[in-house]
Amino acid sequence: MIDQIKQQIKNELQKYYLVNYNTEISIVVEEPKDAKLGDISIPMFSVVKILRKPMPEIVNEAIEVIQKLDLPLEKLNPVGAFINIFFSKSLLAMEVLKDILSKSQNYGNSSIGEGKRITLDYSSPNIAKTFSIGHLRSTMIGNSIKLILQKCGFQTYSINYLGDWGTQFGKMIVAYQKWGNKEEIMKDPINRLTELYVRFHKEAEENPKLEEEAREAFLKMEQKDPKYLELWQWIREESLKESQQIYDLLGVTFDSYKGEAFYNDKMDSVVEELKIKGLLKEDQGAQIVDLGEDMPPALIKRSDGGSLYITRDLAAVFYRKKEYHFDKILYVVGNEQKLHFQQLKKLIEKMGYDFADQIEHINFGLYLTNGKKVATRKGNVTKLYDVLQTAIRLAKELIETKNPKLENKEEIAKAVGIAAIVFGDLKNYRGLDAEFNLEQSVKFEGQTGPYLQYTGVRIASILKEKPYTIAQCEKKQFELPHYFDIIKLLSAFPSTIEKAATEYAPSVLAKYLLSLAQCFNKFYSLEKINVEDEAIRNSNFCLSKAVRIVLNEGLRLLGISYLNEM
Ligand code: ARG
Repeated sequence: MIDQIKQQIKNELQKYYLVNYNTEISIVVEEPKDAKLGDISIPMFSVVKILRKPMPEIVNEAIEVIQKLDLPLEKLNPVGAFINIFFSKSLLAMEVLKDILSKSQNYGNSSIGEGKRITLDYSSPNIAKTFSIGHLRSTMIGNSIKLILQKCGFQTYSINYLGDWGTQFGKMIVAYQKWGNKEEIMKDPINRLTELYVRFHKEAEENPKLEEEAREAFLKMEQKDPKYLELWQWIREESLKESQQIYDLLGVTFDSYKGEAFYNDKMDSVVEELKIKGLLKEDQGAQIVDLGEDMPPALIKRSDGGSLYITRDLAAVFYRKKEYHFDKILYVVGNEQKLHFQQLKKLIEKMGYDFADQIEHINFGLYLTNGKKVATRKGNVTKLYDVLQTAIRLAKELIETKNPKLENKEEIAKAVGIAAIVFGDLKNYRGLDAEFNLEQSVKFEGQTGPYLQYTGVRIASILKEKPYTIAQCEKKQFELPHYFDIIKLLSAFPSTIEKAATEYAPSVLAKYLLSLAQCFNKFYSLEKINVEDEAIRNSNFCLSKAVRIVLNEGLRLLGISYLNEM
């Protein structure tokens, strides 16, 4: 609402100068440094300079224009070159609350994405390896960006681009043939397969010939050798089961699981096109494309004819452009693949297509535990499913002590544990490395997901105490600072969503929700909500209800479930 008021004043003034002076002037509506001066402030220097009229005349004219608008303003105060404006806090509050209570979970919906399609590539774990913590980040960040974009009217298409192709499968197959045993593996597929993979790397250090064998095995796969493909298929299915457990826990879904293997028969035509366009060049038996001074060349085909990660991504992006008609494609992938996506964009540009700038690498930092990266290669594996289960167990313990009589403890502990993990991640700006502390994240106080859920639950139980209506509120109540602070935040929800959407940054929303919850809890500590006075009680309840609506919707957009009890 406050943003709309600002926008409306800006638009009206600009229109006024255009119509009356035939001049385009850009008006800025800002917040004064000192809140005592006003809620918003408009500097008029630029208008004076352009129209060459005395300041008082300009200021009076502008004030007249603003006063004609039907806005909840209380006072317009010209001070020098500024027009300082005070809102009528009570009128504004009523408009904000009516807006939220009537729109409910649709409050904050935006139309900035109307008619636009965004394809998202996220999660994308590597089959036959333990689901890594980096893939968990990609999953949670991607999922939240998708939900935020949908709220802004974008049409989304989400792809889990499974890492189900590449030399690592050659390694896997060689290791399996040498040391594997199907029965043994079936007992605990991912762990046994991971062990095989780790063993391969250890032995290959001693015996480099193994790498050679692995490349040959992968070539056989690329040539569609049925025996190898059958093995691959089996490994793929077993691995997917593990990822699926994690997706089920997190409540994450995808529109497509077309992984790298899907593009096996779609690369030749792309390589052919590179050749026809004169971009492909031989280098020590391999096929490469020079990408200029700024980056190393892209390796398109190995000397043995094997394809590479970038070859598959190239084939995939053309397929996706054709199938999904995206206006933008987002790759939610760690910082360490920055160069890969720069190369992908550059390749498309060099091939003469105009959609390179629609490709965006949504990068994120490392997930650290005790300051160290977690790697799967050396067998130093943190099983993510176990991490999630641990969070759920810790949540259950907390619930047992805080609310032992609660029904559905299992269900609720699950929601709280997941909230801890997801929020513990999303509150950090994605581009940076993030330290993750499980115990801290599960707490019901502090900057945690459970704290937000708990605030919502607190409100839900207050609201059950008495019926209330917005029709009979004590409007004056909202002029008190601890009331109006909440109104201001509530009114900033729509612009927060848009900012999170345009920056592809769920942390913008996560931080906002923390401020809102903190602000509400301060209010709660200062004010008895269920008071005798009916009008004041209505004001308190309506305000609380609005906070609950925004909190719930905000949590949903982060991929976290809200609760009625905990
Ligand atoms: N599977 C890859 C990895 O784990 C991530 C894939 C990201 N998406 C893509 N289109 N390259 O490193």
